Amino acid sequence: MGTMKRIASTYSPANKITVFEGSCLDLLASMPDESMQLVVTSPPYNLGKEYEKRLHLDDYLAQQREVIRECVRVLRPEGSICWQVGNYVEKGAIIPLDTILYPVFTGLGLKMRNRIVWHFGHGLHCTNRFSGRYETIAWFTKTDRYHFDVDPVRVPQKYPGKRHFKGPKAGEFSCNPLGKNPGDVWTIPNVKSNHVEKTVHPCQFPVELVERLVLAMTRPGDSVLDPFLGVGTTIVAAVRNGRRAHGAEILPKYAEIAKDRIQAAVKGLLPVRPRGKPVFDPQDAGRALTTTPWLFRDREAGIR
Ligand SMILES: C[S@@+](CC[C@H](N)C(=O)[O-])C[C@H]1O[C@@H](n2cnc3c(N)ncnc32)[C@H](O)[C@@H]1O
Repeated sequence: MGTMKRIASTYSPANKITVFEGSCLDLLASMPDESMQLVVTSPPYNLGKEYEKRLHLDDYLAQQREVIRECVRVLRPEGSICWQVGNYVEKGAIIPLDTILYPVFTGLGLKMRNRIVWHFGHGLHCTNRFSGRYETIAWFTKTDRYHFDVDPVRVPQKYPGKRHFKGPKAGEFSCNPLGKNPGDVWTIPNVKSNHVEKTVHPCQFPVELVERLVLAMTRPGDSVLDPFLGVGTTIVAAVRNGRRAHGAEILPKYAEIAKDRIQAAVKGLLPVRPRGKPVFDPQDAGRALTTTPWLFRDREAGIR
């Protein structure tokens, strides 16, 4: 196939990549039972963005339930569903979407394995509450026989040189040389204006976030599905790691960008923030604006 991968526009089990332009329910209807190893998505949050009509919360939930039911149908018995959500906001009151979606998943017989907190540094500045700086990934599995391999996503140990100091292993290194389990709080920058992955889409998730899920919950060659594809981040993360991937996007302009990004990723040309890169700290970087002028002034005046 060379470096150009065929991106199919309708689903077939033989596809390596599918970008379906239309409603996810139509894509899902064309998929057989138990064919996907991982469903990962960030659905509309019902905030009235250009791609969503703000609905009464009950109607929003009913819509989500319909999509989730279909996702569960197409999920393999060893498979996982990761639903990445934030808050719905109504007249200043927040409703964490994972809390209202939890009964939908468990009502369909799924079990929650983690509620991963995705922490990031940037966003709206609130005046009447603390500014929101995290969203969550609700991870559910269909059975107890789910696939999970932490090795490909281990992160560096805090004290890699630490050794057992007594007992039969005294003197041996005490931690796993492959690194430690990344835990359930992930600090990964969100895709804002100067992020290397930024497109015109208002709420892309970062490739690294999806790659962690793909690497831990699927094997090479497995199929990944994103019913709300946006600009294709899930497929990018999957194909960079030798997985098949399929998604639906209702707005043609985002589906087009998704296809361009996927082709660039296949050729290794898509700019992606490197996995595990430390979060930028302007103070460590010695940025002049990080000095605090009033402290120097006060110190000179002998106040502090
Ligand atoms: C939160 S965004 C997902 C962004 C994506 N995670 C990314 O990184 O690009 C949700 C997307 O779902 C799309 N969408 C909304 N309703 C849809 C539907 N019924 N079927 C397919 N896509 C839909 C929207 O146009 C929007 O691009």
